[in-house]
Amino acid sequence: MSSPALAVQISEAELKLLQALVYQECGMHFDARRTHFLQDRLLRRLRDCQMDSFYSYYRLLISAQGRDELSRLVENLTVNETSFFRNKAQLDLFQKHVLDELILQKIQRRDFSIRIWSAGCSTGQEPYTLVMLIADSLAYHHLRTLPPSTSAAISMAPKPLIPEPWKVEILASDINYSVLRYAQEGTYTENQMGSVDYSYRLRYFDKVGERYVIKNAVKDRVHFDFHNLKTEFLPQRHDMIFCRNVMMYFDEAEQKRLVNKFARCLVPGGYIFVGHAESLLGLTEKFTMVYRNSGTAYRHVEGAP
Ligand SMILES: C[S@@+](CC[C@H](N)C(=O)[O-])C[C@H]1O[C@@H](n2cnc3c(N)ncnc32)[C@H](O)[C@@H]1O
Repeated sequence: MSSPALAVQISEAELKLLQALVYQECGMHFDARRTHFLQDRLLRRLRDCQMDSFYSYYRLLISAQGRDELSRLVENLTVNETSFFRNKAQLDLFQKHVLDELILQKIQRRDFSIRIWSAGCSTGQEPYTLVMLIADSLAYHHLRTLPPSTSAAISMAPKPLIPEPWKVEILASDINYSVLRYAQEGTYTENQMGSVDYSYRLRYFDKVGERYVIKNAVKDRVHFDFHNLKTEFLPQRHDMIFCRNVMMYFDEAEQKRLVNKFARCLVPGGYIFVGHAESLLGLTEKFTMVYRNSGTAYRHVEGAP
């Protein structure tokens, strides 16, 4: 027997209605190239909810009792593709220039905290990559600045992931609860580990059966939380924001709003990293592009509101 939703025909007007609701809810924009995807996911939800009319489903979505279903629909519409060490050129720029400079500035100011927001973190590979890179950089700085007399004694003691007195906090947020649960679990298959060198696997993962589990010391540096970028809630005073491969699903108006929001979440002179197919050019005057060896980042112009 065929399920009721298979027979449902969705009109263009109905799709437009849904498009507007999704846009209002989370900023995702479905242009002509992506309406087929929207329709496909809508039919799936109708089937799962055993509904045979678009309007009954739409009425559910806009009702107070329909909040959970609206979240489920949005989860079905997100693209969660990600990987460890994604966009190596950009991560080199991050580690060798931006982070290096930040560490030196912070040492001078005697402020030993590093705060980064991974906005749209998907299944966690991005924030965990950041912890690994920061831990390596801090260990390197620590080693270079130790007085020679202490190095022998310290080398005997087990090394903490983040050397004292540094404090590293990564806020990793997403709109999709399923990916957040996956990220929190921190368990990855061999396929997902393709871009992770063995030196990183050895230091930052435990092998459990066929899978790799991120070590607790790395996990403890990341705070996963639900956050809808469409809302005005502003996580404050971040040194950097990684929002990669998220804005490409928003229209220009929403991208502009988001960049202004990010400007308010950063410390003066803070940085934004976006995906390699994304750009802030034309969206804002508040950031200036930094480019090195094919890696790009955007630096907040000090004094800009
Ligand atoms: C393609 S993944 C990018 C993951 C990672 N940043 C990377 O570049 O590898 C996009 C993520 O953005 C999330 N997302 C989409 N719209 C969002 C919104 N309005 N608020 C928060 N997260 C959102 C999706 O759930 C998805 O996990």
